[in-house]
Amino acid sequence: MASLVESSAGQSPVDLDALDVARAELWQANAWRPLFTRLRADDPVSFCPESFFGPYWSITKYDDIVAVEADPATFSSSWEHGGIVIFDMHDTGVQLRMFIAMDDPEHGEKRKTVAPAVAPSEIAKLAGPLRERTAAVLDALPVGETFDWVQRVSIPLTTAMIATLFDFPWDERDKLPEWSDWAAKIDIGPDPVLNAERERHVFAMAARFKELFDERKAAPPRGDLLSMMAHSTAMGDMDEQRFIGAIALLLVGGNDTTRNSMSGLIERMNLFPDAWAAVKADPATLASGAATETIRLQTPIAHMRRTATRDVEFGGKTIHKGDKVVLWYNSGNRDESVFPDGDRWDPTRENSRRHLSFGYGIHRCLGARLAELQLTVLIEELARRDMDVKLAGEPDRIPSCFTNGYHHMPVTLARGSGNRSDG
Ligand code: HEM
Repeated sequence: MASLVESSAGQSPVDLDALDVARAELWQANAWRPLFTRLRADDPVSFCPESFFGPYWSITKYDDIVAVEADPATFSSSWEHGGIVIFDMHDTGVQLRMFIAMDDPEHGEKRKTVAPAVAPSEIAKLAGPLRERTAAVLDALPVGETFDWVQRVSIPLTTAMIATLFDFPWDERDKLPEWSDWAAKIDIGPDPVLNAERERHVFAMAARFKELFDERKAAPPRGDLLSMMAHSTAMGDMDEQRFIGAIALLLVGGNDTTRNSMSGLIERMNLFPDAWAAVKADPATLASGAATETIRLQTPIAHMRRTATRDVEFGGKTIHKGDKVVLWYNSGNRDESVFPDGDRWDPTRENSRRHLSFGYGIHRCLGARLAELQLTVLIEELARRDMDVKLAGEPDRIPSCFTNGYHHMPVTLARGSGNRSDG
């Protein structure tokens, strides 16, 4: 399957001045790697004057991404300037005032409210049920026939985890990925039909969550995310846009990202069968490294965006007040100066945890440990069953420079002779 090869070899020269790396078709065709390699080498802080999303700066080297994230006063996340994705949030009816799209102090107050739900002690409590659910999903898979890994594994496992975190009614949990998918479509542009459809889903989500929120508020505090929010000073009494934003952030944050990592794992196993054989032989040592490497290479959120609050010299260029600054995590995660042979899935890579898939600084992902646990458990349970998941066709990729993932992934499953499921 030549198009899966993660190398920049054989590509034709690129005109850097006209280069627009946000084009959806590049992401759908999995064709973005050589362009970012070229930008890192020749124009690491580059300006794209014209695109579907308007003009924007691309930051492509690891240290530059970290430097931007470490200076939130100059590079703002606020929705008031357009928010955290390449598409301006003012241009959509549902503005999603999520705390990820706020600066401190309001961001910090809200972050503190939800952080306890994903503290290490809480995550430890989730580990047992998570392993049982993972095992049940894997044991129900057909052997020797083609099925869609996204639908059969990645979506059910991530949906179950989010339902647990919110204590969302179990028999309604299938609505969560649908709402999350629509809320995450922040780069559809100004298309009125798609935006109206998106609003319909987002408002349905908000209405159901509001009912549950009010129930939790009227009841004594409990450990789930909704109850924590309902009983807090920072989030107990939010306006509608902030409420919708908070729910959407936690849904999208926990759903699409982990889902696409679980699918990305399969692509990596197929590209690097020797590495997968090593993980299966020694999951106790290698499963966690394999999970981290998958998250690094997949980079499920390809970019975050900031807006310059003043004119600033950066990387030898002048970024002007009001300019969009796009941080390409997918590129930082392959920066040759930090990750040698960076396209290789190497579960033994020593500095893999330095990856930027969870961002950096004050907004660094709150769910990072939970995501790592979900993926590590999946790898351990696959290894324990001596399972090999083979791609049975080209994955159907999402045409988005934000959600870097898959609509569908046809696979077949084989169980090796060394089944260790009883061990
Ligand atoms: C592989 C899975 C995941 C990836 C790749 C991911 C990625 C990210 C990224 C890139 C950010 C922004 C960081 C920045 O601006 O510096 C973020 C923030 C956030 N993530 Fe995740 N995430 C994942 C899983 C989760 C999960 C499971 C949850 C919740 C249960 C979650 C909740 C959040 C929240 C609440 C924020 C906002 C933090 C803030 O603004 O202070 N994420 N995530």
